[in-house]
Amino acid sequence: MDKEQAKAGFTKYFGAKTGNFTKETTEDEVKRIYDERSRTYDQEHLAARSAYHKPLAECLHKTLKDVFLDKPNDQIKIIDAGAGTGLIGVELKKLGYTNLCALDISAEMLKEAKEKEIYNEFICASLSEPPIPQIETGQFDALICAATLFEGLVRSSAFVEMIRMVRADGLLCFNIWEKELGDYQETISELEKAGKWICSSKQTIPMYAAEDMPKETLAFVYKVLRN
Ligand SMILES: C[S@@+](CC[C@H](N)C(=O)[O-])C[C@H]1O[C@@H](n2cnc3c(N)ncnc32)[C@H](O)[C@@H]1O
Repeated sequence: MDKEQAKAGFTKYFGAKTGNFTKETTEDEVKRIYDERSRTYDQEHLAARSAYHKPLAECLHKTLKDVFLDKPNDQIKIIDAGAGTGLIGVELKKLGYTNLCALDISAEMLKEAKEKEIYNEFICASLSEPPIPQIETGQFDALICAATLFEGLVRSSAFVEMIRMVRADGLLCFNIWEKELGDYQETISELEKAGKWICSSKQTIPMYAAEDMPKETLAFVYKVLRN
């Protein structure tokens, strides 16, 4: 599926404003669009048959078990960056993770996440405008970022701030649709060359099961070397 076909799918299930995100979309527009979508977001994802939340949470879980051998899941501190209405939190909770912080640019999306009673901390901030003052360097054991790294939403430079939030030896888990890799891949490689992080795994996972939506996405897990 190419970008134009995906755009048609996003427009059909998530509305024209989401379908038409570009590099020129401002943060205020992004905030407004997600504030407006917050009440319908979960239903839209049911209609598009989103399939990535569970496998992405499992990718993080699998590597966490290798890194934090004896640390109980409920003591592992995870930030969900671009948490939206908390669908990733739902999956992490099923795996026993309850020390969860939700970060999002949209206050209304966070309000929906709050109603799920899964996260114990909420931060309304943009990943593209670092540093985020509420977050200390190395404060989290892991970060997960689902369906938030794409054109018009979060800039690739945000990886630096995402790494800063996580302790050395901690993990970052995120997904990027292959057709959107562009700038992100360049920054991922630069940070790897700079000794900031190292790849633990990269695999293809399901994205949406609806016919007219992208079927697969790339799931990455990176280990922080220094932040
Ligand atoms: C497609 S939703 C994904 C939500 C959730 N992770 C999921 O998979 O269901 C993208 C989320 O990223 C948030 N977002 C967009 N740009 C952002 C930014 N610059 N900083 C933080 N959050 C952002 C939006 O408000 C929205 O909740």
